[in-house]
Amino acid sequence: MTTATRRSAPGPETAASPASAEPRVFPPGFTWGTATAAYQIEGAAALDGRTPSIWDTYARTPGKVRNGDTGDVATDHYHRWREDVAIMADMGVGAYRFSLSWPRVQPTGRGPAVQKGLDFYRQLVDELLEKGIKPVATLYHWDLPQELEDAGGWPERATAERFAEYAELAARALGDRVKTWTTLNEPWCSAFLGYASGVHAPGRTDPVAALRAAHHLNLAHQWGAEALRGELSPDAQVSITLNVHHVRPLTESPEDVDAARRIDALANRVFTGPLLKGAYPADLLRDTERLTDWSFVRDGDLARTRRPLDFLGVNYYTPTLVSASTGEGAHTSDGHGNSAHSPWPGADNVSFHRPPGSTTAMGWAVDPSGLHDLLIRLGDDFPGLPLMITENGAAFDDYVDPAGEVRDPDRIAYLHGHLDAVHRAIEAGVDVRGYFLWSLLDNFEWGYGYSKRFGAVYVDYPTGKRIPKASAGWYAGVARANALPG
Ligand code: NOJ
Repeated sequence: MTTATRRSAPGPETAASPASAEPRVFPPGFTWGTATAAYQIEGAAALDGRTPSIWDTYARTPGKVRNGDTGDVATDHYHRWREDVAIMADMGVGAYRFSLSWPRVQPTGRGPAVQKGLDFYRQLVDELLEKGIKPVATLYHWDLPQELEDAGGWPERATAERFAEYAELAARALGDRVKTWTTLNEPWCSAFLGYASGVHAPGRTDPVAALRAAHHLNLAHQWGAEALRGELSPDAQVSITLNVHHVRPLTESPEDVDAARRIDALANRVFTGPLLKGAYPADLLRDTERLTDWSFVRDGDLARTRRPLDFLGVNYYTPTLVSASTGEGAHTSDGHGNSAHSPWPGADNVSFHRPPGSTTAMGWAVDPSGLHDLLIRLGDDFPGLPLMITENGAAFDDYVDPAGEVRDPDRIAYLHGHLDAVHRAIEAGVDVRGYFLWSLLDNFEWGYGYSKRFGAVYVDYPTGKRIPKASAGWYAGVARANALPG
């Protein structure tokens, strides 16, 4: 990718998009979906043969997750899945992106699949199909079986081999009914938050381990994709979901532009390089050479990872604004949690800034122009590669009012602004095939536990009761009309 320095195109800078008389109609067949992930919603952490994942272990480590929250019960989706599918059917969404829990399907990450684990996903998928909702399954949304971490985790190549075996089990069990797959969700977080800054499981703080993990996640994608597409399901559509960072320099000074380039390499091109261009970017290798010579990349690895994706999943929440050195207004947090350890190996003297304007409950700036510009850039950099927005949404401090309703106008404004940005990108010629709202339900927001609510549906944790928020009704209207109201 070459345009990290591209400035924002004109467009809405705030959540509220400008009033427009005409509805903005999306292309026929555009996919409207909602998204979740296993550890964030399922609960039933010790049921039916499931073994602990790195997130079970991490959440139990004092001080790691806010309020000591864990995914033990979460939203209890493992028992309430039928109700959750019914909510989606009421909303009229056409697709559901969920993840399989690796330690539920293949406890300990080795050997045969567990029938009860497979049965859970089979019945979920059958119910979705019955209701006319397309299942979009992610194989890995961060819940590595703890035993594989004990054996070295993602910094070890063997973990990618285990992942390929797991992908084959999943394809064998579900490939007849699931036709759209994502191998990995946000491998940047797995590698750099998990192994460098330690704000995600497994909580290690070793920058070289993070770079090794990134490479092995790239291998896992490629080997997993081959397993998914293999003779079991040759018609499978296979993707990876990246939290592609839209990196902007604070000023046009050469130092700030170079800081943006360095972060872009570590955030984005470390994945898109090998996956889509067949090589790690030369500047990334140079920037990190005092840490590692990358000899963990073996001959043939990059040739194997050159096979294109069927589509690229893009998760976007907020842009990333950087400068070369600490200055007024700079803050060290990059929005991915606070740690004494940087998630950016080799990128010294980079400061992160909060863009102007309103923020969500995560403290993330609301800036739909970042999504627009990111889509334009991806369209330019990877012509012919279809894109899917696999996550977009916002956390706000939602509550149930005395009438028993949850009114979330800020979320509606956020979604409106970002869908308008998607529409403008499509009009500019970018091939965006669909949009998945994060999230269907309030859920376990990783290091923030249950303190952050991203759902279109409110979850009352003590009872498990679901209350669709105003945004759920609003989004249902958009999905049904295939258009954003004017
Ligand atoms: C990306 C992750 O995939 C998802 O699990 C998380 O909850 C959202 N971002 C919000 O932070």
